[in-house]
Amino acid sequence: DKGKHRHFMAKEIAEQPEVVGRTLAEYADFSERAARLPEQVKIDFAKLDRLTITACGTAYLAGLTAKYWFERYARLPTEVDIASEFRYREAPMPKNGAAIVISQSGETADTLAALRYCKSQGQETVALVNVPGSTIAREADAAIFTYAGPEIGVASTKAFTCQLTVLAALAVAAAKARGAITREQERELIGALIEAPRHMAEILKEEKHIADVAREVAHAQDVLYLGRGVNYPIALEGALKLKEISYIHAEGYAAGELKHGPIALIDENVPVIVIAPRDDLFDKTVSNMEEVAARGGKIVLLTDDEGLEAHGQRTFQRIRVPRAHSILSPLLYALPVQLLAYHAAVFMGTDVDQPRNLAKSVTVE
Ligand code: M6R
Repeated sequence: DKGKHRHFMAKEIAEQPEVVGRTLAEYADFSERAARLPEQVKIDFAKLDRLTITACGTAYLAGLTAKYWFERYARLPTEVDIASEFRYREAPMPKNGAAIVISQSGETADTLAALRYCKSQGQETVALVNVPGSTIAREADAAIFTYAGPEIGVASTKAFTCQLTVLAALAVAAAKARGAITREQERELIGALIEAPRHMAEILKEEKHIADVAREVAHAQDVLYLGRGVNYPIALEGALKLKEISYIHAEGYAAGELKHGPIALIDENVPVIVIAPRDDLFDKTVSNMEEVAARGGKIVLLTDDEGLEAHGQRTFQRIRVPRAHSILSPLLYALPVQLLAYHAAVFMGTDVDQPRNLAKSVTVE
């Protein structure tokens, strides 16, 4: 049932404050502001040498985001790969290793094969899935869940932000177990995550404006998305969403890679979506943005009030995102990129919930 919404995707985008809050409640103690590791997870993070994360598509991008968190907060070496590559490359895996596979459906063939490989290599395996009882959930040593509810739209939205929520809380739990953060830092990080639903609800109020921006973007033939650090995977996710449902060609790049090739594409017909909260990498991203502006590229800047004040003037379009702790950025910036893709697709008149050539769950390799 789509309720008052025109598409399942719109409904699922709108549900995010609620389902992210519900998911976080399983992985964090709100009153103590402490991370809670589900008891079925037997990973001894303190002794772990390496974490390996594998998944496909949007779930892979949740894993790529998590790499930044596990490395930064838990000081845990983390490897991330797409399952279809990982399963065939015969990767050596450490004795004290653990693996997380991420899948909304729990049925993706390549992800299942990657899970089986990790088990064969003696890794402690955890499946993060949205569908309880799915094959991947049953085969892993431990299954943990996102509480997004059924996701019908082929484009993954609420499952993605719920995956990010669980992974952020796990990274904080790992950080604590490894002695990489103090109790005070744990309080700060979990305290920040608890704010996610409130900030998400605020972003959803900007939907009309984002739809206007999306209509401008939808005239383009090619769109670039730029992000740095923990927001780089969100640039990739923004591009994936736009391609998938609007059929407009889009690519995501790490902002620093721009000058190593893709800048050659820039002219006045190419919108460049820049994901840049005012964090410690902001100035670096802004200098990449200025390289784009100097070549006539149309900048759509996604940032917070401080970022807008500093650099909002010289851009083609702006989307305001609430200012928040940097651990929250990927969770928050995911929403405007989903809404941009959704409204571009509506404008193009495509079949938003059932885009051509795609299936909700990919059970063949
Ligand atoms: O069910 P899964 O999470 O394993 O699916 C993985 C991908 O097929 C999926 O995320 C796909 O990329 C989405 N359609 C993206 O919106």
